[in-house]
Amino acid sequence: MSVASFYHIEDMRGMKLYLDTADRDRITEAARLGVVDGVTTNPSIVTAAGLGYREAVTAIADVVDGPVFAQVLADDVEGIVREARGYQEWADDVVAKIPATRPGFEALARLRDEDVPAGTTVVFSIEQAVLAAKNDASFVAPYVGRLDDAGEDGVDTVRRIQHIYDTYGFETEVLAASVRNTTQAVSLYEAGVDAVTLSPDVLDDHVPHPKTDEGVAGFEAAWGDRGSPIDE
Ligand code: E4P
Repeated sequence: MSVASFYHIEDMRGMKLYLDTADRDRITEAARLGVVDGVTTNPSIVTAAGLGYREAVTAIADVVDGPVFAQVLADDVEGIVREARGYQEWADDVVAKIPATRPGFEALARLRDEDVPAGTTVVFSIEQAVLAAKNDASFVAPYVGRLDDAGEDGVDTVRRIQHIYDTYGFETEVLAASVRNTTQAVSLYEAGVDAVTLSPDVLDDHVPHPKTDEGVAGFEAAWGDRGSPIDE
């Protein structure tokens, strides 16, 4: 087991489910389902929401219990460290997302020494994931959908990373990102991944089943116009 003094995302039973959006209305709506453990963002997501980064993070932190993941934009070590430190001022539970580049890993090492919550994102290889874990990153985010787009097997890459982390007892959270559909999500659950981040649409797709609708309609038909049992 690693004896980490660095920040780790609070342990909880089971898998963590984050929402991958900066749309406050969708976050509020999804949070009502009771399953959202935090929110991930990236520059594309924040831009699509028409917000500034600080504005997005503070708005999200207002409506969600749990970490808000905010990506750094700098591409040099000093700039990354400065942004990750600065994000800490925006809200209580902000985790910096740092791309898996050489300056990114160097910045991560610096931030670990300062106890600034930070992890590795835009991850496309097991080697990068091993560097993140050795750096005691708060999380590692392999990009499932984009790995598939590149002709690789995104879910299998996550499965292998999770296996390596479990084997060595690394505390870095495996956070599967770029999840495009429920088929990928279910395969990730089967792989025992620590955490997934889902778009609100993919989360919404977890709910309906035609047989559930059919079953409910049958019960309602059987009950007819007898009203609510609580009023009997
Ligand atoms: C979240 O942390 C990632 O930035 C996001 O899931 C990437 O998803 P995309 O491949 O759909 O852009």
